Amino acid sequence: MINIENRDAHLIEEAKATLIKNDLGGYTVPTHGLYPFQWNWDSAIVALGWLPFDEPRAWEETTSLLSAQWKSGMVPHVVFHKHSDTYFPGPDIWGVQNSPDSTSITQPPVLASVIKILFEETEDRALAESQIKTIVPQLIDYHLWWYKQRDPENTGLVVSYHPWESGMDNSPAWDAALEAVPCVDWEYTRRDTSHIDASERPHKKEYDRFLYLVDFFRKMNFDDTLIYQDCPYRVNDVSIISILHRATKDLLTLCEKIGVSNDQTAYLVKRLDLTEGAISKLWCSETNMFHSFDTRSNTMCKARTSAGLLPFFAGLVSEQQTQPLISVLDKWLEHSTYAISSTHPDDPNYEPQRYWRGPIWIHINWMIAIGLEDYGFSQQAQRITEGSRACIYKSGFNESFHAETGARSGGADFSWTAAMALYWLLPNTTEKG
Ligand code: GLC
Repeated sequence: MINIENRDAHLIEEAKATLIKNDLGGYTVPTHGLYPFQWNWDSAIVALGWLPFDEPRAWEETTSLLSAQWKSGMVPHVVFHKHSDTYFPGPDIWGVQNSPDSTSITQPPVLASVIKILFEETEDRALAESQIKTIVPQLIDYHLWWYKQRDPENTGLVVSYHPWESGMDNSPAWDAALEAVPCVDWEYTRRDTSHIDASERPHKKEYDRFLYLVDFFRKMNFDDTLIYQDCPYRVNDVSIISILHRATKDLLTLCEKIGVSNDQTAYLVKRLDLTEGAISKLWCSETNMFHSFDTRSNTMCKARTSAGLLPFFAGLVSEQQTQPLISVLDKWLEHSTYAISSTHPDDPNYEPQRYWRGPIWIHINWMIAIGLEDYGFSQQAQRITEGSRACIYKSGFNESFHAETGARSGGADFSWTAAMALYWLLPNTTEKG
């Protein structure tokens, strides 16, 4: 018989050790080798993992990310603080002339939601108060950039230019939109498949297009207006839209708490209204789910993915949509003890082991569970929490988990999973150091 308390205490120590091992001094790599730099939404989630045992380090995780913010307000998806040759494409391919080096795209902006939590839960109040003064203006700039540059026509729905921006890199939701993108015409050597079995990673046909887009941004001189006009891939990503919406609300709450109220915050309030009026464009009454939308072909991205549950996190599910969406979720959860697969098991593109086509990601579960609680669906939230815990009990702190067996999928010793264990799944016995 396993003693549950001992098992949790042991896992907590292992989770802390994972963060410490992946700490490169002020920022935490997702895992060594496969992802040797700082990733945007990873760092936001990872800050929550540091919070229970090292508050200054939690804040530092976010300020090191924000140190790479562009003048435009954009916060990059990867920051190349230190050189590494275990990853491709590196800074030479992206061609950005900034210091620190970074990519030219962003990732789901969960950061403001995390900062709100750090501000509310940090015990050292002097630390929290001093950090928030510099961070809030940076977050405002980031959110203004999102709305102004990624929705210049005020549609209420921001666009994304690359599957890597979604953080759900290889989701079947992007297949059709990506197929319309040309392939690169130069040879390259991938590094990801030297760390992880090719059966778990994207195919070459996807990589060719990922790289075409990277080249395209450089050729456009990273000009937001030109890219909006001409980017061959331009998608309303329901996950980014939901995370941004929640994060803007959290940012405004934070602003209120610290007495910031100005034209910029008023503008953000208007943007929330616009999104609330536009979100039904992403609802499909055949699947009873939300989907992303390809603005180039004017078609819905029909794959059924866990992104379609994130409007709960944003508070964007209407009264009429709630019950049908919950029924879809209930059936989805019947498929496995482990929860919740990134692609619905009945979707024709479901692959339980391949990147974002089936495996389970714990931080996505965390957001979905918060959203379900907000809507009063505690039982489903609990089921997702248990399904997440089952994954880490089964196979530890992996990047993601096989949707049916809970076995490792992707990299091992992974920071955001360790962080979610510390902050969300095993918090009771975590003592602050
Ligand atoms: C993969 C994931 C992305 C994540 C990155 C680092 O690219 O798809 O969401 O940020 O790895 O963990």
